[in-house]
Amino acid sequence: MVEIKNIHKSFDDKEVLKGIDATFQTGKINCIIGKSGSGKTVLLKNIIGLLTPTIGEVLYDNRPFTGIKTKLKKEIRREIGMVFQGGALFDSMTIMENTIFPLEMFTNMTMEEKRDRAFYSLKRVGLENVETKFPSELSGGMQKRAAIARAIVNNPKYLFCDEPNSGLDPITAGTIDELIKDISDEYKTTTIINTHDMNSVFEIGDKVIFIHLGYKSWEGPASDIIKAENVDLQDFMEPFLKFYKK
Ligand SMILES: Nc1ncnc2c1ncn2[C@@H]1O[C@H](COP(=O)(O)OP(=O)(O)O)[C@@H](O)[C@H]1O
Ligand SMILES: [Mg+2]
Repeated sequence: MVEIKNIHKSFDDKEVLKGIDATFQTGKINCIIGKSGSGKTVLLKNIIGLLTPTIGEVLYDNRPFTGIKTKLKKEIRREIGMVFQGGALFDSMTIMENTIFPLEMFTNMTMEEKRDRAFYSLKRVGLENVETKFPSELSGGMQKRAAIARAIVNNPKYLFCDEPNSGLDPITAGTIDELIKDISDEYKTTTIINTHDMNSVFEIGDKVIFIHLGYKSWEGPASDIIKAENVDLQDFMEPFLKFYKK
């Protein structure tokens, strides 16, 4: 379980997040939705510690994460798997080097152990015989799979994905969603996905949090979105629903 309490984030005098509270349950897929520029990425970065909230705190299974010493932070950090926006593999590293990267950072495994784990993760996401290739040699969908392999290589308790299927065709996007869902079930992770893809939300989302103008404007089960009496959420949903009704 991940809890965030009263998260504010400002850059200079611009306040992007204006006090967000939320609880993300273990074993569930939580989708954070909202317009482009609404602060989803900033929120996720605050949760994983790439940014520090101006005010507020983050707890991982009741363990405070905000404002703690680096050593403790690293302990929690090693339990986190991340798939960044756009895949964000290291271009100059092979798929194997990319995949073992978290193990280099957070474990004392031998090279053989690291390679074994990486092979296992790559196989788990359906990638074989690409270890020596560079990201640019793979298709967009395969790059996302590699990013997911890297995110799960250290058996995460928490899995965070920022727009995991952006830039993919709908079919490939669907297979990436399914993979994230299967992996979340298998590893029982607390999963948080930033997305503006409502197909994903309806396919795999358990809980949904809608961010609007820096506030949490709505939260509930994915199945309640359509009937939600929230004008801003309805506005956000309109393009999708228009398409859906056709
Ligand atoms: N490092 C930063 N410095 C200043 N402003 C930023 C920074 N990162 C994000 N922002 C601003 O915060 C707002 C929210 O951005 P972001 O979280 O990326 O939105 P989303 O992911 O929902 O599309 C945007 O207005 C963006 O310009
Ligand atoms: Mg974003």
